[in-house]
Amino acid sequence: MSLASGPGPGWLLFSFGMGLVSGSKCPSQCQCLVQEVTCTGMRLTEYPPDIPLNTRRLYLNDNAIMVLPAMELGLLSDLVYLDCHDNLIGELMDYTFVGVSKLIYLDLSSNNLTSISPYGFSVLGNLVHLNISNNPHLSSLNRYTFANTSSLRYLDLRNTGLQTLDHAAFQGLLTLHTLYLSGNPWRCNCSFLDFTIYLIVTHLNHPDAPNATCVAPMELAGWPIAQVGNPLRYMCITHLDQQDYLFLLLIGFCIFSAGTVAAWLTGMCAVIYQHTHRKSSETEDEDEHGQRVRVARQIFKSRADSGHDGFPQLI
Ligand SMILES: *[C@@H]1O[C@H](CO)[C@@H](O)[C@H](O)[C@H]1NC(C)=O
Ligand SMILES: *[C@@H]1O[C@H](CO)[C@@H](O)[C@H](O)[C@H]1NC(C)=O
Ligand SMILES: *[C@@H]1O[C@H](CO)[C@@H](O)[C@H](O)[C@H]1NC(C)=O
Ligand SMILES: *[C@@H]1O[C@H](CO)[C@@H](O)[C@H](O)[C@H]1NC(C)=O
Ligand SMILES: *[C@@H]1O[C@H](CO)[C@@H](O)[C@H](O)[C@H]1NC(C)=O
Repeated sequence: MSLASGPGPGWLLFSFGMGLVSGSKCPSQCQCLVQEVTCTGMRLTEYPPDIPLNTRRLYLNDNAIMVLPAMELGLLSDLVYLDCHDNLIGELMDYTFVGVSKLIYLDLSSNNLTSISPYGFSVLGNLVHLNISNNPHLSSLNRYTFANTSSLRYLDLRNTGLQTLDHAAFQGLLTLHTLYLSGNPWRCNCSFLDFTIYLIVTHLNHPDAPNATCVAPMELAGWPIAQVGNPLRYMCITHLDQQDYLFLLLIGFCIFSAGTVAAWLTGMCAVIYQHTHRKSSETEDEDEHGQRVRVARQIFKSRADSGHDGFPQLI
């Protein structure tokens, strides 16, 4: 076997070093069938060693595993199905799933997830089914969490501590079909508006829609979030804060001052125009109707001469 076609000498050495290349082993507490390993309910507290490298389906559910080790998991490069429900996994790192990019099904429900790194799922471009329900301490999801999981069709976010979601997090999920959102303390404030609009315009399937309700604010408590888009839009768009009023006042003042200045300038222009126009029309008159003007001037002059007070008088 040439080195160029293999996975690389470093990786092979590393694998030999870990003693994990022998595909015939099976973890002592697990059952191994063809490309399928089942370790359900074995009170495991750690990820089991010696999982065959060609495993495609792995059941680790109903144990007490606290950490999914990226290195050991990454050896299972053919893994498509990973069930970890009912464990004690606390967090997912950027690199947790970096070696298992073929995953199609991932169940992390009923764990103790408190945080998911923004790029935790970023290599899972084939993932179709993701279940992170029943992780009550998960309070937020980053807007990049689903940026690359573009094949996702089923997403279960029930009974997490999620209070809000950024609609931008769902923009890459063009094939999303079914979304579960109930059992979460949704805060239906103005930051949530875009997500509620997204729910209205995308026509996703929400099997639990009546149970996905707002807990705050008071006026919207108990409303299903799938129906709250329009009242929320009304509230958020017509509601003005103190600073909005200040802003409006400022704008008004600007318009007023601009108007005043414009009016003043117009007035000035009119006066200047009239002034120059009068002057030029006087000389023009002289040029065109020289005689008549001269006659008028003479009358004017003679009157001025004859005036007692010395001031010229108009006719
Ligand atoms: C779950 O996580 C929380 C917060 O990190 C921690 O306080 C709690 O002890 C964890 N629960 C279990 C059963 O490990
Ligand atoms: C998303 O996937 C693409 C290709 O699969 C990759 O190049 C990119 O780095 C991934 N993004 C992240 C944030 O990992
Ligand atoms: C997600 O997991 C929970 C608990 O394990 C289960 O009840 C639920 O049916 C799962 N959701 C989906 C969409 O399979
Ligand atoms: C809305 O609620 C979320 C979650 O509590 C909070 O992070 C956000 O700052 C709130 N937004 C506004 C505009 O109050
Ligand atoms: C809503 O919650 C109630 C009580 O928890 C439950 O009986 C019902 O089946 C739920 N409905 C849906 C559509 O999930």
